[in-house]
Amino acid sequence: MTTEAAPTVVHTRAPGKINVFLAVGDLQDDGYHELATAYQAVSLYEDVRARRADTFSVTVTGGPAVDVTGVPTDGSNLAIRAARLLAATTGYRGGVDLRIDKNVPVAGGMGGGSADAAATLLACDTLWGTGVGRDDLLHLAAELGADVPFAFAGGTAIGTGRGDELSPALAKGTFQWVLALADFGLSTPTVYRELDEHRKRHSGDISPVRRPVVDAGVLQALRAGDAGMLAESMHNDLQAPALHLEPGLAEVLELGEGNGALAGLVSGSGPTVAFLAPDLDGALELQLALTSARLSVVRATGPVHGARVVSD
Ligand code: C5P
Repeated sequence: MTTEAAPTVVHTRAPGKINVFLAVGDLQDDGYHELATAYQAVSLYEDVRARRADTFSVTVTGGPAVDVTGVPTDGSNLAIRAARLLAATTGYRGGVDLRIDKNVPVAGGMGGGSADAAATLLACDTLWGTGVGRDDLLHLAAELGADVPFAFAGGTAIGTGRGDELSPALAKGTFQWVLALADFGLSTPTVYRELDEHRKRHSGDISPVRRPVVDAGVLQALRAGDAGMLAESMHNDLQAPALHLEPGLAEVLELGEGNGALAGLVSGSGPTVAFLAPDLDGALELQLALTSARLSVVRATGPVHGARVVSD
């Protein structure tokens, strides 16, 4: 008979995301906006390695295109908060040493911090043997941030409520994305605030905000795996406020759309701009054109799996 030894280190991985559709409703009493969004997990991953320790600590490194200098390593780091939340919920008395290797742009609107939190919940649950299970981990994920449940679930999903109430969406095929990374970040609350202020200023001349819903064309395009159809229905209500705060992003959008992208959109609250390419060749050509224009560019495909344990 063999007994399984408790692991000394657990390696997990969770993906970044693109909101291929994001409609923002009214600001609610809890400080969050009601959303209707279509998430697609893409092949930029956050890797978390968790080791047993008496206290909670994190070190952060970044892949070639990722500047990690702004990422906090104190108790405000979302991965540390995730580990502490799991420990508090399960009564686990020890700590964890976390090593995070980031490939999702920092403060870029692609859910990198959320992916860290999702990967950490899974890593600690496995390392500590707390056996919380997927459904309860998803609930903990929602306590950490609106996008964390999706980073855990991955694939393609519709998010409502704050974006944390997920229902899976049917999806076929693989979409090719080219991502233009900015050398600055945008704060998510600031972008939402800008949207609210714009709506307030123009309350007389724009129609009142309706209950947000995901466009049927988006669901149809995802179901068919049809990039052309998706390009026609992609939309993000946070794009206008992000462009208002960072007008230079308009030029980036134009450049991509003039070099073969089917469509471009600001990802989440930005500033990363996501271009949908018709196929792999189109994506490679677009990558070359944007790189020649001195933009920092990475390619990704989607949808991909959610948080999972990696066997080294
Ligand atoms: O949940 P998360 O920490 O990612 O959200 C960051 C901020 O983004 C919130 O504090 C809120 O200001 C804004 N937000 C929002 N409505 C949502 C999601 C986020 O207003 N549905």
